[in-house]
Amino acid sequence: MGVDIGGTGIKGAPVDIHKGELAGERYRILTPHPATPKAVAEVVAEVVEHFTWKGPVGATFPAVVKDGMTLSAANVDKGWIGANAAVMFTERLEMPVTVLNDADAAGIAEMRFGAGRDRKGVVIVITLGTGIGCGMFLDGNLVPNTELGHIEIDGKDAETIAADSVRERKDLKWKDYAKRVELYIRRLDSLLWPDLVIIGGGASKKADKFLPLIDVRPEVVPAELQNEAGIVGAALAAADAQ
Ligand code: BGC
Repeated sequence: MGVDIGGTGIKGAPVDIHKGELAGERYRILTPHPATPKAVAEVVAEVVEHFTWKGPVGATFPAVVKDGMTLSAANVDKGWIGANAAVMFTERLEMPVTVLNDADAAGIAEMRFGAGRDRKGVVIVITLGTGIGCGMFLDGNLVPNTELGHIEIDGKDAETIAADSVRERKDLKWKDYAKRVELYIRRLDSLLWPDLVIIGGGASKKADKFLPLIDVRPEVVPAELQNEAGIVGAALAAADAQ
């Protein structure tokens, strides 16, 4: 099964990894505050235990994750820096837990079952949500932990300009938000020249309101799995790790 750990909610579901779909209704609990590693591990366990699941579990986390360790904390409790999330979750659940970056997980799901299916070359999956997440693929293979949501635009962290949370906080009109996302994609393009950009995250639900207004060189399409991409991708990563 897959669990998606976010700043607002921690949600999970069993996943049909052959179809790339949830195999049961998703269960969600609010993220505890403060979201310390111990408090989050408890909620992850509660979500998993809600299902009669015994088997590999994949969990996403909104930070750099290497070998199960969380190494950054842009929008999360600083206590995560250097924590071994995979070991903590595995010990708490007594089941193998694979932990990976949230945008990498969403990207894996999109590449296998969504807008990136059968796409070769350089594909960048961008999640526009609380922050900006990035999953980069070369011929379908993930280059993990690309933190391209933090590239600089005019001396500022791109995330503070084009994340969906910025649109909500500033109550931006869609055309103004589209300009910001356009600026961001142009900057990405000038550095990486992707063949395809897939827009996921919270903003992708409303992609029709701003993507048509964006004028950039690479092909840009909305994600297809939307809200479920993290859960599906986490489960795929857990299955691949077996
Ligand atoms: C973090 C990334 C994460 C993204 C989306 C960024 O602030 O640095 O690791 O993928 O937010 O949650």
